[in-house]
Amino acid sequence: MKINKIVCIGAGYVGGPTMAVIADRCPHVDVTVIDMNEVRIAAWNSSSLPVYEPGLAEVVQRARGRNLKFLNHIDGVQALKEADAIFISVNTPTKTHGPGAGKASDLSYVESCARFIAQHVSGQKIVIEKSTMPVRTAELIKEILTHNNSQAKFDILSNPEFLAEGTAIRDLEKPERVLIGGENSEAVQALVDIYAQWVDPRLIITTGLWSAELSKLAANAFLAQRVSSINSMSAVCEKTGANIDEVAKVIGTDSRVGPKFLKASVGFGGSCFKKDVLSLIYICESYALPEVAHYWQQVIEINEWQKKRFAQKIIESVPPHGTVAILGLAFKKETNDFRESASIDIVQHLLQAGLKVISYDPKVNFTEFAKGLQKAENLKSASSIAVAINGVHAVAILTEWPEFASINWQEFAPQLKNCNLIYDGRNIVPVDAPLPPKLNFQRIGVSG
Ligand SMILES: NC(=O)c1ccc[n+]([C@@H]2O[C@H](COP(=O)([O-])OP(=O)(O)OC[C@H]3O[C@@H](n4cnc5c(N)ncnc54)[C@H](O)[C@@H]3O)[C@@H](O)[C@H]2O)c1
Repeated sequence: MKINKIVCIGAGYVGGPTMAVIADRCPHVDVTVIDMNEVRIAAWNSSSLPVYEPGLAEVVQRARGRNLKFLNHIDGVQALKEADAIFISVNTPTKTHGPGAGKASDLSYVESCARFIAQHVSGQKIVIEKSTMPVRTAELIKEILTHNNSQAKFDILSNPEFLAEGTAIRDLEKPERVLIGGENSEAVQALVDIYAQWVDPRLIITTGLWSAELSKLAANAFLAQRVSSINSMSAVCEKTGANIDEVAKVIGTDSRVGPKFLKASVGFGGSCFKKDVLSLIYICESYALPEVAHYWQQVIEINEWQKKRFAQKIIESVPPHGTVAILGLAFKKETNDFRESASIDIVQHLLQAGLKVISYDPKVNFTEFAKGLQKAENLKSASSIAVAINGVHAVAILTEWPEFASINWQEFAPQLKNCNLIYDGRNIVPVDAPLPPKLNFQRIGVSG
């Protein structure tokens, strides 16, 4: 088995960058990315890509028009028919209604991909789960494929993606590992051969299907758990006079623990952590493992609590109907993605408390961000840090954009004359940064 032609369904934060890197590193493989969202496809074909990631534009520029195409899913049918391998890279959000609502993954997009594939293809096809899926989803996909198409032969592989937004291109070009789960060793090898074009084969881990599916959920749950663990300690630090940055340094220098993901913050965000932990909780409940479900539920609870207590401190520090500047809406630096960003909940808490909010973020589309918020009439956008903080009663840093770490606060003393509090929700302002007099400065996990 050899993969010469690839189709990827889903041109989002994962499908777009992943396929761009595959096309870039495998110039002899035809890669077509299809999506039902025509606006997104048009953006992938323009100079203004729908995803901001450092290095992405250069990779797309090299491969697009050579062996990389972006098509709407109707125009993509011919490519689908000809493909040897079809990646499913669509969204798998938390279900909002029906059984499992609020926890289980909504697999309707995955199911519709399976029906779409079954409707159009014949011959031998490798169907690859790139989306994060609950363990045993491959069974469901295979059932839909074979029920709706008795002519084609399907091999299902699980190849979950470990890229992190903000460093997606680096993660794809130099992954720590690539995971491929499957039953048919020839199909597994065909996909290994693709990655082996640029990834050291020792970093390509092959497993059974269920281990691959579960490993992705488990990996995200462990990462989220680290954030909640350090954030829970940040609250203890604030009460006791210990300093979370010092405590994290000590914990992280133990080689059994390691230093990464030990930065106290306003809480984790992003489209994956919460939904994947919830999905794991639902799986545990479905398999009658309530103790395990309860354990992981706490990771979510601490995260929600961290956001709420951060907002509460701001609310208590400003006059009624006062104004708060929010620096950063993205869920992390170097991305325009604000899905599940801590800023959403914090801004909402502030607005509900009757405060006015003025926000600045260098990459996030403010109109999109404000959609769905209540009392959004009290939320405004600023074109710069200087405009955002002018005359406000408090400033909160919610994203670790480098430009927020290097603000010269003293220079902004006139704009900050009404300001009671600067709350660094990412602990990025240097501890020795000079501040205007009488200004209260607070870091996560540091009493004061
Ligand atoms: N974003 C991340 O950092 C990240 C990292 C690793 C894994 N994942 C997982 O990857 C998957 C995709 O995530 P994402 O962030 O790229 O999502 P996304 O919402 O950015 O992109 C999904 C795309 O799929 C398209 N789509 C949905 N159903 C379709 C259909 N039937 N036919 C054609 N197109 C369809 C949507 O229009 C959308 O453009 C999810 O399961 C997610 O959990 C995400």
